[in-house]
Amino acid sequence: MPSGFMLACLLAFTLQIFFSLPPVSSDSLLPMISTFQGLIKLGEGVVNYPEDVAVDRNGVVYTATRDGWIMRLQNNGTWKNWKLIHSQTLLGITTTKEKNNLIVCDSDKGLLKVSENGVTVLASHVTGSKLRFANDVIEASDGSLYITVSSTKFAPKAYYLDLVEGEPHGQLLRYDPSSKQVSIVLEGLYFANGVALSKHGDFVVVCESWKCIKHWLKLGDKRDREIFIENLPGGPDNINLAPDGSFWISLIKMNSSAVETVHSSKNRKQLLEEHPELINQLMSTGKGAAAKVVKVSANGSIIREFNDPNAKNISFVTSALEFQGNLYLASINSNFIGKLPLK
Ligand SMILES: *[C@@H]1O[C@H](CO)[C@@H](O)[C@H](O)[C@H]1NC(C)=O
Ligand SMILES: *[C@@H]1O[C@H](CO)[C@@H](O)[C@H](O)[C@H]1NC(C)=O
Ligand SMILES: *[C@@H]1O[C@H](CO)[C@@H](O)[C@H](O)[C@H]1NC(C)=O
Ligand SMILES: *[C@@H]1O[C@H](CO)[C@@H](O)[C@H](O)[C@H]1NC(C)=O
Repeated sequence: MPSGFMLACLLAFTLQIFFSLPPVSSDSLLPMISTFQGLIKLGEGVVNYPEDVAVDRNGVVYTATRDGWIMRLQNNGTWKNWKLIHSQTLLGITTTKEKNNLIVCDSDKGLLKVSENGVTVLASHVTGSKLRFANDVIEASDGSLYITVSSTKFAPKAYYLDLVEGEPHGQLLRYDPSSKQVSIVLEGLYFANGVALSKHGDFVVVCESWKCIKHWLKLGDKRDREIFIENLPGGPDNINLAPDGSFWISLIKMNSSAVETVHSSKNRKQLLEEHPELINQLMSTGKGAAAKVVKVSANGSIIREFNDPNAKNISFVTSALEFQGNLYLASINSNFIGKLPLK
């Protein structure tokens, strides 16, 4: 029997099964899609291009700005300049449970600890090399900190060269609070960005270009990395655990035709030197850059989506954190923190 015939039979059989199944209710397949209408701009004009947002165990919301301020949200919705870090390179932040400290990724200096007593460097080296381009951090239940490094090859200012080269220079690191040492957990990640801990503390999700992976903290017989979600409709930035155990991921819209042009070129570096405008075409980061946030269930499916394709309410969201029924949004294009009531 010709194999083509077999295939045709199989296909027909599969189609038959498909068509004879009862129709699945469409809202169990498609995410609920909304705009950012109803957004409240907290401290418009005073929060200088924040990349991330965090909340501590007392419910205080924090952000870190481009001009080095760690800001705290006060009860009346205004911001207080809490601590100043002399840096323009602050990225991901998180809070620790036991001591209620704020941990900050400084892409130049490494990992910083901020408390009422001031700012200290927790870690500046990893296995003898300088810890650079730390992008995001999360505390695990045992008190260790998991840290992403976007690129061990390129500096933050040249992040696009890493994306263009398309080689995996990213890492996941672990800071051990008892030895105060940093070790490498995973290597070969494609521009590692956000990191979040699961609700039960058994795995972390690490976002890379176009996908996020799951890393089990107690390996046992499990593989060290599994796909959590792939083919995301944008480049994932920060990821945060939602109270219901799902995750909020902010996405950066890439221009797929420009990505295609660059990736199909034999000499990408030369192409970019000759056509620097391609860099801006790859990823629009200007004032009108689209904002997109997705909610992904713990099993890796998109269940909710917020879009602002023309940046009418907010542009280029880099972090989305759910707290007490509101989504707090940081954006490196905006001078406020967005607060979106979730209905
Ligand atoms: C908000 O609260 C802070 C701290 O309690 C206070 O210093 C500030 O004046 C208040 N601002 C407004 C506009 O009410
Ligand atoms: C996307 O990239 C293509 C090809 O490089 C370019 O012609 C187009 O203007 C870009 N679109 C945007 C919105 O930047
Ligand atoms: C994944 O989780 C969502 C939300 O909790 C649920 O609706 C869906 O049925 C789950 N899908 C699978 C394949 O388990
Ligand atoms: C959000 O966008 C809508 C539609 O353009 C507009 O009517 C509304 O005023 C915007 N809200 C804020 C807070 O920017």
